[in-house]
Amino acid sequence: MSRGQFPATRMRRNRMKAFSRRMFAETRLSVDDLIWPLFVIEGDDRSEAVTAMPGVMRHSIDRLVSAAGEAVRLNIPAIAIFPSIDASLKDNDGTLARDGDNLVCRAVRAVKAAHPGLGVICDVALDPFTDHGHDGILVEGEIVNDATVAVLCEQAVHQAHAGCDIIAPSDMMDGRVAAIREALDDAGHENVQIMSYAAKYASGFYGPFRDAVRAGSLAGSDGKSTYQMNPANSDEAIHEIALDLAEGADSIIVKPGLPYLDILFRAKSEFGVPCVAYQVSGEYAMILAAGAKGWIDTDRAMMESLASFKRAGADAILTYFAPKVAQMLAGETPKDQANDQAGDQAGDQAKDQANNAT
Ligand code: PBG
Repeated sequence: MSRGQFPATRMRRNRMKAFSRRMFAETRLSVDDLIWPLFVIEGDDRSEAVTAMPGVMRHSIDRLVSAAGEAVRLNIPAIAIFPSIDASLKDNDGTLARDGDNLVCRAVRAVKAAHPGLGVICDVALDPFTDHGHDGILVEGEIVNDATVAVLCEQAVHQAHAGCDIIAPSDMMDGRVAAIREALDDAGHENVQIMSYAAKYASGFYGPFRDAVRAGSLAGSDGKSTYQMNPANSDEAIHEIALDLAEGADSIIVKPGLPYLDILFRAKSEFGVPCVAYQVSGEYAMILAAGAKGWIDTDRAMMESLASFKRAGADAILTYFAPKVAQMLAGETPKDQANDQAGDQAGDQAKDQANNAT
């Protein structure tokens, strides 16, 4: 393609006025792109702040339902529910994952009963339920693949029974997508989607999340490198995605987000399937921490990072900023995110922290 030359061509002409910048924007972030991850805990009418994720709370089921109501009000299409399990209920095999009445299943039922039209996504992985914090069963120092997959299938079926719309395997075991697809189909859930964390890296950016779900530090640092991917690799991500699609994944996730935009771009251009970016806890924490220091403008950095996912090819974005962004896109002035996540609980945080201290 031949391109013009300066001075006939002046690139700044199209950028000169606001109407023109708006008109020629190549991509646009919309509320329709957002998936809001939420944390759930046992109890009634209580919330806990997640220290390393300012503004993010763990909510009891009743308050999670209020947060889901806020998602509906803001027109956010889907939420992802993550349980934070009491340490006394965890064991080596993540046994509680196989209980159809566990915290996450009860949460899904409650959300679905109150807000049937809201999309609900559940992780499939054992880390919320294992005492070592790994995503699978630990046998003599090894996370065993096939035995873990069998448990993941049970977990997925329980979540689907509870009403989950999208099963999101985040464990990185081999062969799990095909096995889960078969288990779901056998249980009559052939219309439940699988959104596979196909390209999930062994990342230092998950730290605040492990605090949020109280997964402990045992699986920290590079402890998950025998199943999550090496950050040095790109072709391997393509291989993983191809396998998951062949096994029946309906959409794929690239995770983390911003450091892996090249992977997202390749995934979208090479496969043309629905691609989801996960702006993970550490990315959220970095933007807020630098903003709190006054070193960057939080809202600008937030919007720019999300626009970048769209530019790279994301069809949807998992982001803890979802409610704030949805408010801004709707022209509302965002409430302080520290107080707005369950809708109407300003002031409750301090009260809860006092309660939790007792
Ligand atoms: C669990 C899981 C993790 C995240 C989502 N699902 C953590 C991990 O793999 O250790 C991370 C999300 C985030 O950091 O925001 N399998």
